[in-house]
Amino acid sequence: MFLPQLLARAEQGEKLCVLTCYDASFARVLVDNGIDVLLVGDSLGMTVQGHATTLPVTLEQMAYHTEAVARGVAGKAFVVADLPFGAYQKSPAQAFDASARLMAAGANMVKLEGGAVMLETVHFLTRRGIPVCGHLGLLPQSVNATGYRAQAREAGAAAQLSRDAADLEAAGAGMLVLESIPSALAEAVSRQLAMPTIGIGAGPGCDGQVLVLQDLLGLTAKPPRFARDFMRGAGDIAAAIRAYVAAVKTGEFPGPEHAF
Ligand code: KIV
Repeated sequence: MFLPQLLARAEQGEKLCVLTCYDASFARVLVDNGIDVLLVGDSLGMTVQGHATTLPVTLEQMAYHTEAVARGVAGKAFVVADLPFGAYQKSPAQAFDASARLMAAGANMVKLEGGAVMLETVHFLTRRGIPVCGHLGLLPQSVNATGYRAQAREAGAAAQLSRDAADLEAAGAGMLVLESIPSALAEAVSRQLAMPTIGIGAGPGCDGQVLVLQDLLGLTAKPPRFARDFMRGAGDIAAAIRAYVAAVKTGEFPGPEHAF
């Protein structure tokens, strides 16, 4: 699937259902059960590799998992791949080389973290045919600076995030992940943008939702407060995925207990 098809789906007012995915078997199950976008997240550093953060993940590892997911998807859904820490922050040219590797591996879009500091890079990539998803709010690759806590809770930081979102869109970004920010801010930002926003810990007002697959399957020892274990009562993995899709599309998930 290509970006215009995904955007057309979002424009019809349908909430986009996104899940992280790291291999071909799960990719097939996710696609067959209604997931619109598979995110090959650098969260694989934690979920697959057992690290404490996403920082040790390399570009070659991201390319390996992107290839596996793309084979499982077989063109039937949209694949976003994370640019890992250290592979894109130095310059637009470095980001282009890393993105080209992930696009050749089968990604339809790359995701990068950050606002103002990434504008030149987003412009550079999108003008060269590489769709870019932004990521604002809690930025896991900056955990050493911020810790894992909700962001943009003060007026100044909220205003900065709104500006960054608008600037990313103007630079060419086609989608935006909003992580761990107040629901009211996420809703306001979503209204101000034409591109779809995908929330995680950002309340119900976004245009779509994303969860880490292992959180949804109840495999995470200490799941984040914004996650829900959809395996509970589901019977099997396919049913859990369908329950997630139904809960997102009907607006039943996320609820107030998942928001900041
Ligand atoms: O890597 C990841 O799984 C992500 C999500 C938390 C959005 O970026």
